[in-house]
Amino acid sequence: MKRYYIRTFGCQMNVNDSQKMAGMLKSLGYEPARSWEEADLILVNTCSVREKPDQKVLSALGEFKKIKNKNPDAIIGVCGCLAQRAGYEILQKAPFIDMVFGTTNIHHLPQLLKEAQAGNKAVEIIEDIDENETELDRYPTVRDSIYTAYVTIIRGCDKKCTYCIVPYTRGRERSRRIGEILQEVQWLVEDGVKEIHLIGQNVTAYGKDLGDVKFHELLYAVADIEGVERIRFTTGHPRDLDEETIKAMAEIPQVCEYLHLPIQAGSDRILKAMDRGYTQKEYLKKIELLRKYIPDIALSTDIIVGFPGETYQDYMETIKVLKEVEYDQVFAFKYSPRPGTPAAQMPVTEDSETVSRWLSDLINIQKEITFKKNRAYENKVVEVLIEEEKDGKLTGRTRTNKLVHIDGEHNLLGEIVKVRISKANRFSLEGELAEKLV
Ligand code: 5AD
Ligand code: SF4
Repeated sequence: MKRYYIRTFGCQMNVNDSQKMAGMLKSLGYEPARSWEEADLILVNTCSVREKPDQKVLSALGEFKKIKNKNPDAIIGVCGCLAQRAGYEILQKAPFIDMVFGTTNIHHLPQLLKEAQAGNKAVEIIEDIDENETELDRYPTVRDSIYTAYVTIIRGCDKKCTYCIVPYTRGRERSRRIGEILQEVQWLVEDGVKEIHLIGQNVTAYGKDLGDVKFHELLYAVADIEGVERIRFTTGHPRDLDEETIKAMAEIPQVCEYLHLPIQAGSDRILKAMDRGYTQKEYLKKIELLRKYIPDIALSTDIIVGFPGETYQDYMETIKVLKEVEYDQVFAFKYSPRPGTPAAQMPVTEDSETVSRWLSDLINIQKEITFKKNRAYENKVVEVLIEEEKDGKLTGRTRTNKLVHIDGEHNLLGEIVKVRISKANRFSLEGELAEKLV
């Protein structure tokens, strides 16, 4: 029996692609290996969003070289965003690699594998979108979680934010046909999944390329499938988040009260240079609308600090927004120039240490806000979907995406239960079982 090991870097799209590749390998008779040392096939699914993930992948390749030395028969493949962007460079740096393929031809894995097994270099990096790429969607996913599942609804991004590599690594927007999405959701529910997480680089643009269906209509259709207890979606773009979608979020009982809405920067000047297509005021209006329809919605965002030309005054606009919105969680990154993007041509004005200090100050400010938000849960009763049972502790998430640890009780895996929160930590909540729900 042959064994595979997949190492995944990057976002949910990559995680879902890896789950599909695992499904594909399963259909070819492969079993998962416990570690890469035991594997006959190692796949590295790469990310290229910032320089750090690039470097992580390149240093992982050093480890794989050792494996190849020990087990020359092991096939090593590199795929994903870095492979799409710089596959030939990777091959030059690490000539022991057997397979390199990009993000739009993952469905060719079986043929590529055959070629590599025959002793050839299997390389396929194509710029154009392969219209048969949706073949990938037909494979069942192999997931860690039994009760929650990602469903890809749209691939690529047309936004062209000036800092972002994604349009180059993932191509233009392509929505999946609604019938196929609903079919996959149906299969997942039959498989025991309770929470459906719709994903895409830009989910709120869903259907624009198809012309016959809009994102909010997809939400209603998914909610109509019996057995779907919870619906989440990421990532939405503030520009495409319309009132119809917000209304649907409020109206559909299964749509969770949580939204990740990246702002990237608070300053209008920087937002313009990023080509985000909204001002601070317009973004804040969307937040206001969200809170009008869904008063207890939890919010998170992404921030880039140190974009070319950003001054202290610009940076303070971002801090102002964080204090005003009071997000539950913020993912903040230091700007990293990406090859071929328009921003990579713009002169960076602040020195690196100053930007690092801004970033760490921002993270510290947010830490207190997150803690305050968590403390507001104390003594409240919330719904939790139990996803894990370990050492007498249950772990799950609230509808607002907070991690909750619960003492005692067993056999509640996959159940939605009511929990009284007894204590708030910085990154999680603790509580006791109040009542079984579903
Ligand atoms: N530099 C720093 N952060 C970036 N992101 C995307 N591109 C860059 C870049 N060049 C961040 C954005 C995005 C998140 C996934 O990564 O905040 O929302
Ligand atoms: Fe990384 Fe972006 Fe690719 Fe996701 S789409 S893996 S975040 S580069």
